[in-house]
Amino acid sequence: MIEAANRLNTVEEYYFSKKLREVNLLLASGKPIINLGIGSPDMQPPQKVIDALNEGFSNPNAHKYQSYQGLPELREAIAGFYKEHFAVSLSPATEILPLMGSKEGIMHISMAYLNEGDEVLIPNPGYPTYESVTKLVGAKTVFYELDEANDWQPDFKALEKLDLSKVKIMWVNYPHMPTGAQPSKFLFEALVAFGKKHNILIVNDNPYSFVLNENQQSILSVKGAKDVCLELNSLSKTFNMAGWRVGMVVGDSTHINNVLKVKSNMDSGMFYGIQKGAIEALKCSKMWFVTLNNVYKQRRDLVWKLAEALNCTYDKNATGLFVWAKLPPFVKSEEFIDLALKNNHLFITPGTIFGSKGEGYIRFSLCASTEVLEEAIARVK
Ligand SMILES: Cc1ncc(COP(=O)(O)O)c(C=O)c1O
Repeated sequence: MIEAANRLNTVEEYYFSKKLREVNLLLASGKPIINLGIGSPDMQPPQKVIDALNEGFSNPNAHKYQSYQGLPELREAIAGFYKEHFAVSLSPATEILPLMGSKEGIMHISMAYLNEGDEVLIPNPGYPTYESVTKLVGAKTVFYELDEANDWQPDFKALEKLDLSKVKIMWVNYPHMPTGAQPSKFLFEALVAFGKKHNILIVNDNPYSFVLNENQQSILSVKGAKDVCLELNSLSKTFNMAGWRVGMVVGDSTHINNVLKVKSNMDSGMFYGIQKGAIEALKCSKMWFVTLNNVYKQRRDLVWKLAEALNCTYDKNATGLFVWAKLPPFVKSEEFIDLALKNNHLFITPGTIFGSKGEGYIRFSLCASTEVLEEAIARVK
């Protein structure tokens, strides 16, 4: 028997990987399941992005290994995108590293900065990958709680009471998934000050800023932020390109070089045509976002109705690709979603997969057409 490494005992198979097997079995047995679980955009990327990918195939250099740091034009397009939408200046040569999605960056940053036994501040509720990657690299998770009463913002008084001497990284994710909360006015400034005071690398994971949100914000816009902050971003949700695997990490050149040391030893550059497509996406005009969000607005109206039909409440000011809904008192998330799957053939995500603070909540994805959402409402009514 060849035993797996001990680190595998620290993590479990990803919730969706397991649950989707169950959903697929139900589908195979003829049950008409509506999947409102996962946030995989179902609309097409801009046509010019697909054209650029297709044209990329006929370039004789397309099939060679590509640069570890991506095409210079891609880094320039990322710099242009950050300047236009976040008013942040980045050097294309030294402050940008293209990634295969922002998820990949979570592992690379952790590999670059964490020794065994180092501690990592992780939001609860929050994206489960921060926890699993921390465990995989042998570091220790320290959860900080986010609460609805505090608009899902970190409680700095509670953070300051912790022993922070071993904390090396703090993951933050605004706009926040799963709740859709925006950063409060002074949050990014407070985070930069906190990182400087305690010598902690603050990483803002920022893949949702363009979905149902008109106020794009980057932690790097705070003066002095580059000393202690990195930011992850992604084309997955912004341009309906989740399967393309294009993201980026941006920040000070020293940090970017540290991440590059890891990444360049783990994979080679991204396929040429994908980079050409990504460049076109990043150059999209404001009209792209208006059109995208008009569709998401219609869907969100329907998901709000669905949530009401299920006796849930929700925040109309929340942003992003999901509706985070509160269940009636004393109803448990996982029991509720199992019943919805069994009785209504609706697959919804239980809040508990994002941490203990997600108990009592469920998350609906907006990645389903209005027809499908109307059918979901009809089933519940
Ligand atoms: C908070 C958060 N970060 C990162 C990711 C990963 O996105 P990407 O497709 O860019 O790897 C997701 C995807 O669901 C997410 O919700």
